[in-house]
Amino acid sequence: MLAATGWDAHGEVPLYDSCCGSGTIAIEAAAMRLGLAPGLRRRFAFETLKPHDRGVWQALCAEAQDAASDQAKRVTGVSVFASDVSHRMADFAQANARRAGVGQVLWVRAGDALQRMPPSTQPGVLLLNPPYGTRVQTAGVAGSTAVDPDFFTQLGRHWKNHYAGWTAWVLSPDRGLPGQLRMRESRRMPLFNGDIECRFWRFDLSAWKASDAQPSPAGPT
Ligand SMILES: C[S@@+](CC[C@H](N)C(=O)[O-])C[C@H]1O[C@@H](n2cnc3c(N)ncnc32)[C@H](O)[C@@H]1O
Repeated sequence: MLAATGWDAHGEVPLYDSCCGSGTIAIEAAAMRLGLAPGLRRRFAFETLKPHDRGVWQALCAEAQDAASDQAKRVTGVSVFASDVSHRMADFAQANARRAGVGQVLWVRAGDALQRMPPSTQPGVLLLNPPYGTRVQTAGVAGSTAVDPDFFTQLGRHWKNHYAGWTAWVLSPDRGLPGQLRMRESRRMPLFNGDIECRFWRFDLSAWKASDAQPSPAGPT
């Protein structure tokens, strides 16, 4: 998903997941920004196989570690942001970020996506996998689990009011998402989240206009 957005992991454009759950997307983004090779901090089953050459593998790991150390020196400040309405999930994401070794470049907070203001002055990329009715339901302030049928309409309004200049990418199985957000997508890609067929939608956010009061028709699939 990060690759599909075209987000420049080595640049400085901020990335924000405002429905971060356990933090998967933001942690991956932070690891990319830090130049951490995937799996650098874990062990692999092949390391126990007979033909495995421990010396070659250790040299490769050391090379990847040096590259990450060089990249870490170039990264100044925090530019990856994550939040979730659930304090429990935000704590979980924070702990996962620390375990993944990206805690110093990733900002995690608890908060409602319908109220959170941009975490940076520079517009960036919003990338989120919001709750789907099938598995997790939207929750309002204070973590209520009640379904809010207006969640996406309110989210669209909040983005238009406060996130002009940002690009939002949303993974959702709901083909009517643009209509609910009252926005027209600029891109739409088919993607599966497990066995759930989704669309990965891109919205170029601009300031609210009076015409936005009318829902845009849901596009074809
Ligand atoms: C599909 S999950 C996201 C999974 C996530 N990508 C991960 O790596 O775990 C949706 C998340 O949205 C959160 N959520 C629901 N309503 C929210 C709201 N109003 N503001 C912010 N987060 C919300 C839920 O707590 C849940 O963690």
